[in-house]
Amino acid sequence: MCGICAGISEKINIIQDVVSGLKKLDYRGYDSCGIGYIDEKQIKVVKAVGQIKNLEKKIQNLEAKIAIGHTRWATHGIVSEENSHPHISQDGKVCLVHNGIIENYENLKSKEVVYYSQTDTEVFANLIAQQQGEPLSKLRMACQKVVGSFAVAVLFEGHDEIYLAKRSSPLAVAVENGVVLASSDISVFAEKFKSCYILDDDEFCVLNSKNAIFFDKNGKKIEKNCVFLKNYDFFADKNNEKYFMLKEIKEQPMAIRKTYFEYFSKENKLDFELLKKFKRFHFVACGTAYHSCLIGAKYLKEICGKDAQVSLASEFRYEKNIYSKRCLYIFVSQSGETADTLACAKMIKDKGYKSLAVTNVPYCSLNNMCDFVLPTFAGKEIAVASTKAYTCQIFTLLIFAQMLANKSCEHIKKFALDFKIQNLREDVLQFIFQFKKIFFVGRGQDYVTSLEGALKLKEIAYLNCLGIAGGELKHGTLALVDEETLVIAISTQKGLKEKMENCIEEVRARGGKVLLVSQFEHNVKVDCKIVLPDFKEDFMPIISVVPLQLLALNFCLKLGYNPDKPRNLAKSVTVE
Ligand code: F6R
Repeated sequence: MCGICAGISEKINIIQDVVSGLKKLDYRGYDSCGIGYIDEKQIKVVKAVGQIKNLEKKIQNLEAKIAIGHTRWATHGIVSEENSHPHISQDGKVCLVHNGIIENYENLKSKEVVYYSQTDTEVFANLIAQQQGEPLSKLRMACQKVVGSFAVAVLFEGHDEIYLAKRSSPLAVAVENGVVLASSDISVFAEKFKSCYILDDDEFCVLNSKNAIFFDKNGKKIEKNCVFLKNYDFFADKNNEKYFMLKEIKEQPMAIRKTYFEYFSKENKLDFELLKKFKRFHFVACGTAYHSCLIGAKYLKEICGKDAQVSLASEFRYEKNIYSKRCLYIFVSQSGETADTLACAKMIKDKGYKSLAVTNVPYCSLNNMCDFVLPTFAGKEIAVASTKAYTCQIFTLLIFAQMLANKSCEHIKKFALDFKIQNLREDVLQFIFQFKKIFFVGRGQDYVTSLEGALKLKEIAYLNCLGIAGGELKHGTLALVDEETLVIAISTQKGLKEKMENCIEEVRARGGKVLLVSQFEHNVKVDCKIVLPDFKEDFMPIISVVPLQLLALNFCLKLGYNPDKPRNLAKSVTVE
């Protein structure tokens, strides 16, 4: 993961722009941060463990015209100042910030170099320093030797430029009014720039104080088209909420309505006719996005009668002989930058098969890679735990299935207009807070919701919990159920009501406590109940996940954690 931001200007002190860029990028990692700059022709570095404010304290009054900055999500090496970026080569002549992973870094180590950190990036810095020629040739030659992913910004001693290279990690550049900025995410450009350039894999760029010059992998100068930023929804603030996650949970009805109106407005040009010819669909994603794929596959099977399957991207990458020409591969990703998902999309592209990206971020790498794009319109999601992006993915996949089946979308419009968020009752919260062992149980689509509910609680409240298919309880997990266990039973499908009642009885017979989440009555005793609003079954995965998101958030706050920045995680997982 990690975020990089680098800037150069003759006119202004660039340190402020780089630091404010890093603040916008800290969703990509917040273990530590650092900045490298040129001061009287010398490369200097300042680093800090923890959030950007710790770095700011160390660089008050610092001024520079050229700087590269980094915010880190640790992959190689513990969280420490030594492992923070930028890294400098042993001879002090190359200074590097890096997002990605150098897979062959052990093989690239040199016996003549003493490495101070445990990082792959320090090896990369030294590799560049060991090459011959001008800075750009050194960087190009080093990149040829490297296996893995990288977006790098490099300073070379004695050169008033910043050198950039990219493979599989995002990198963009903006130039305006005497300021030249590079960043892992174009949202960094929002305030000062009208347009930007997005680097493609194996391209290079040299930034000077006036301009950005682009090169292909052979070092030949190239022209690039710019992307205009005016339509991009950059501006995310907390809207008077204390946490982004709470704001984003509350925004879900608005995001669903926006998604509906975007798809049904006259301007929408997406050609569903082209997509109807596919008989088979194969979804690929990670984490929460994988859960929305499970619901998407159910829609395609049940609404369209199509053959649909789902794979985790990190598994699909290494499967053999699974490809089919007649299949549409659907890659779902909030960020559109998730390394495993991107790698699968590339694999499918290389085979010449067709693919569709379902993403929440315009101009992301996944959109670039796929033949078709189905955007979700959740708006910028900042909190690491995905909430509104998830429900908008499900909603978009429902629209997709309805369109493929040539079915009316009137009920979808009604849902979009009627969907509201209900707060959790205080007595429900107090009941839940008593437990440390929590299982989420459901069948069919509710099994998916149980996986998502458990994931949310794990990632922000750090509780050891599980999502289980109702029928599987008795095949193992029931052994863990005792008086101290809470089972959250999700039951939104009338056809599976009796089966869920059986699960609940099994739990209660072992002394376990049950919180039922449902829109209808059940013929079993439970300890607590969340009554859901009653909508058509297809919408219930959206409705029923909301109390689970709120539950996770409240549990996290009760335990004193920050929901927006869970430990060990980052918003955009750009490493495998
Ligand atoms: C969990 C969460 C992650 C992401 C996963 C994929 O709340 O946010 O599990 O869903 O890292 O990310 P995207 O959707 O950006 O590909």
